[in-house]
Amino acid sequence: MKVLYPFLGVLVCSALAAQQFNHQLPIPPLLTGTTFNLTINDTVHQFNPGVNTNTFAFNGTILGPTLEMHKWDTIQMNVTNHLNEVTTVHWHGLHVPAKEDGGPHTVVPVDSTWSPSFRMLNNASTCWYHPHTHMETMRQVNMGLAGMIIIRDSAEEQLNLPRTYGVDDFPVVIQDRSLDGNGQFLFNALADSVIVNGATRPYMEAPAQMVRMRVLNGANARAFIIAFSDNRPFYVIASDGGLIGAPDTVTSLKITNGERYEIIVDFTNDNPGDSLYMICKGSQFAAAEPGGSGNQSGNSALNGVDYNIMQINVVAQTSSPVTTLPQTLIPVTPWQQSLASVTRNKSMMGMGMYDMGMMSINGLTFDMNVINDTIYKDAIEIWNVSNNSPQVSHPFHIHDIQFYILDRNGLPPQPYESGLKDVIYLKAGETVSFITKFENFTDSVTPYMYHCHNLHHEDMGMMLQFIVIEDPNASTEEIAQQNAQISAMPNPTQDNWIINTESFASNAQWTLTDVNGKAVQSGNTNGRTQVSVNAASLATGVYFFTINDGERTSRIQLIRN
Ligand code: C2O
Ligand code: CU
Ligand code: CU
Repeated sequence: MKVLYPFLGVLVCSALAAQQFNHQLPIPPLLTGTTFNLTINDTVHQFNPGVNTNTFAFNGTILGPTLEMHKWDTIQMNVTNHLNEVTTVHWHGLHVPAKEDGGPHTVVPVDSTWSPSFRMLNNASTCWYHPHTHMETMRQVNMGLAGMIIIRDSAEEQLNLPRTYGVDDFPVVIQDRSLDGNGQFLFNALADSVIVNGATRPYMEAPAQMVRMRVLNGANARAFIIAFSDNRPFYVIASDGGLIGAPDTVTSLKITNGERYEIIVDFTNDNPGDSLYMICKGSQFAAAEPGGSGNQSGNSALNGVDYNIMQINVVAQTSSPVTTLPQTLIPVTPWQQSLASVTRNKSMMGMGMYDMGMMSINGLTFDMNVINDTIYKDAIEIWNVSNNSPQVSHPFHIHDIQFYILDRNGLPPQPYESGLKDVIYLKAGETVSFITKFENFTDSVTPYMYHCHNLHHEDMGMMLQFIVIEDPNASTEEIAQQNAQISAMPNPTQDNWIINTESFASNAQWTLTDVNGKAVQSGNTNGRTQVSVNAASLATGVYFFTINDGERTSRIQLIRN
């Protein structure tokens, strides 16, 4: 298929150097709490004054609000679809039951409200939400439907990191778009102009201190190689699933579709009034990469060249700036390979030199009615995902779980790729192995997806689906025990342990005992799914939390430090 690039009047200036970055970076409104209302509208947005572009948006006129959620909270979403077409909303990166995941099976009809509810089990991280409609994902995302999710937890909150939204902690949603001569979106896989948080040629104001940027590649197909115009080093602190072991110093960072990286940029030695650019080092792409100069990419002005993404104007420090970074972040402890019970090989492939034909995984294309993999709950699995296309890159993404990369082409992952992830960039010929565990949720009917996150490829069928079911070989007792898992955060602590008791009946009895077996506190869950146990009043040392709901018992060791 030959993509046409008609004259583009609005988004693009031909002389890159002459572009004025004169649109203040929009910071999407931050919604907090546990109930989130999203209304999907068919609306118009002005990228430049006086030119109405038809858009789809959550609540506003482009993209959607940022949703702030806390680990362990029970979240209630209300998604109302006021488009003239069906859609779905997927919580990309969240570990939620398949029915609440918003895949192509969970359609939100026109003028109706979908109200999924789920427990937030993810660690502090940056996730996002977007439509996942059968064969329409790219068009609906391209029309403007995407938003960020920020998850917070106590482990992350204990670190001295910038986290004031819009002040020293910024959402940076990078996409590319093309408009036709009438100011309407084109639906090219690779477009001509970059938008950040829905704005063309944006500038942001960065205080002269450590600044956190939550970078999401929300583009249809284009990858970006993030860097700064003065080539300054910056620090990766988190990837898709949350913090990595320690800040990783880089000078450029490739980010593919659906992927997130949290980076810290140090402006401590910059003066108010200084300015620089976040850039894409597009000249470093191989020709066939989505952003490279190869003919697959058509003649987009952004292909194969370095270009500015966003101007950064340094402003005065805030009152309590973060000026140094922690040396370490969180312990990274992948599952042991020896515990893996299943290995799956997945080969992503397109046909022809530039993948113009069928897009498949293991020779199969997406069929709503076929379950491609059946996985047992609590199985630890190793997946070897390879890109066997002759030239084209494929970003692989899997729903439900986060994984740890074991190796990339036989080599250990770079530090920035060593934390929990849900997307991997695969150039032609690459193989990545990862390990994961399919915990918590079973559903023999509604599947989860795994697919290429190049939205064009996804819509062409480079997507398969899996269900997670109870292991039929496990005894009822084993299953009951597996289901009776509890966890405590933070542990150790000096103030409170929050115990997740979700898998227990609502009137479970709990007891906290000391090392001598003496009960020091007790209570009942009373309909709640978490218990807060006061540690501040206790002597330092080891304690045991035991919970029983009449059928099952579980015990966890707690440390008061
Ligand atoms: Cu971001 Cu299956 O999607
Ligand atoms: Cu997803
Ligand atoms: Cu692909």
